[in-house]
Amino acid sequence: MRDLFEKIYRDKGPLGKWASQAEGYFVFPKLEGQISNRMKFQGKDVITWSINDYLGLANHPEVRKVDAEAANDFGSAYPMGARMMSGHTSLHEQLQNELSEFVNKEAAYLLNFGYQGIMSTIDALVGKDDIIVYDVDSHACIIDGVRLHMGKRFTYKHNDIESLEKNLERATKMAEHTGGGILVISEGVFGMRGEQGKLKEIAALKEKFNFRFLVDDAHGFGTLGKTGSGAGEEQGVQDEIDVYFATFAKSMASTGAFIAADKEIIDFLKYNLRSQMFAKSLQMQLVKGALKRLDMIRTMPELKENLWKIVTALQSGLRERGFDLGTTQSCVTPVYLKGSIPEAMALVKDLRENYGIFCSIVVYPVIPKGLILLRLIPTSMHTLEDVDETLKAFSVIRERLEKGVYKRLSASVAAAMGE
Ligand SMILES: Cc1ncc(COP(=O)(O)O)c(C=O)c1O
Repeated sequence: MRDLFEKIYRDKGPLGKWASQAEGYFVFPKLEGQISNRMKFQGKDVITWSINDYLGLANHPEVRKVDAEAANDFGSAYPMGARMMSGHTSLHEQLQNELSEFVNKEAAYLLNFGYQGIMSTIDALVGKDDIIVYDVDSHACIIDGVRLHMGKRFTYKHNDIESLEKNLERATKMAEHTGGGILVISEGVFGMRGEQGKLKEIAALKEKFNFRFLVDDAHGFGTLGKTGSGAGEEQGVQDEIDVYFATFAKSMASTGAFIAADKEIIDFLKYNLRSQMFAKSLQMQLVKGALKRLDMIRTMPELKENLWKIVTALQSGLRERGFDLGTTQSCVTPVYLKGSIPEAMALVKDLRENYGIFCSIVVYPVIPKGLILLRLIPTSMHTLEDVDETLKAFSVIRERLEKGVYKRLSASVAAAMGE
């Protein structure tokens, strides 16, 4: 018999194996200072394009004031216990009511974290006879939720309605046999590439197939739709979404999440969501803070307007310079370049050290080998000067990449990594 840890000593995993070259710089970097468009990285000022604070609420003085007052009034413990037992309050209820009204659903329920919350939602919605059909590029929290499912599941090709239809045909046949139902899952906005899920086309399939539709709108909430209530509103199909999910970790600049649906479904989830039944309730500072943030999203349209001014300037500026942004239809701004992982590391180092631009870098195995994805997240706090500086820097680094500068700079790293 082997020692359980033997495999850990041997294999650090697909990301962990880069730790010695990457930790502290490319992964686990420490961004310091107040959350804003310009922060400090290793003592240097950088324009930060890697924070999901879409509406600039994280450090807004009114938000900070409410957060501080709530901490003062309640401390960080209140309420103690799970919602069902001793962790329920009127303010939790008020926040749920305001959220459900905002996203145009009958009811809502709070989740402590989006990740566990959506896993638990999937777990509660399906039984062993039911079938899940979900987009192959789904976020890890959806994949992990599906992993909890004891019955059948099918993936469809990313945002491919023909593939979804084929899988719905298979799922329907199977459900007729098992006597179960079908849950289709998509994201409102796919966070890596920025495409919107084809919610309208998926919803239209309800005419042909019998299924319920769950949408994870982590990136759409607050950024899309006339009122900011997300991708369902943007595509005019919010009513067709049976269970709507969003996190507080992005536009709301906080921690927590919620699901919204018909009252009868939320009433069921209240009694069956294991992540909430067996965990301490969302603490009051987060609840009061979320009420304030939601109020600002509803009453300050200028936050979303400024966000989109920056998104448009950044995306059209990059496209005019010939950069490949793939198929984004949201604020998420991916820039695809060709190169190896060591080249990507040298390029990002150049961007940070010499141009003061801090963005996230995504490489294989998250995207195909030979591609580098620089992911930029515009926010309402960014300025047109930030965009201008970034565009200039991107033109220079692309030229250097094409001339092989980063290949030369990273030759020793590449050799050490066997690339
Ligand atoms: C698409 C998507 N779903 C769910 C989550 C998880 O949300 P949370 O950070 O609240 O756990 C994230 C990341 O925040 C996400 O990007």
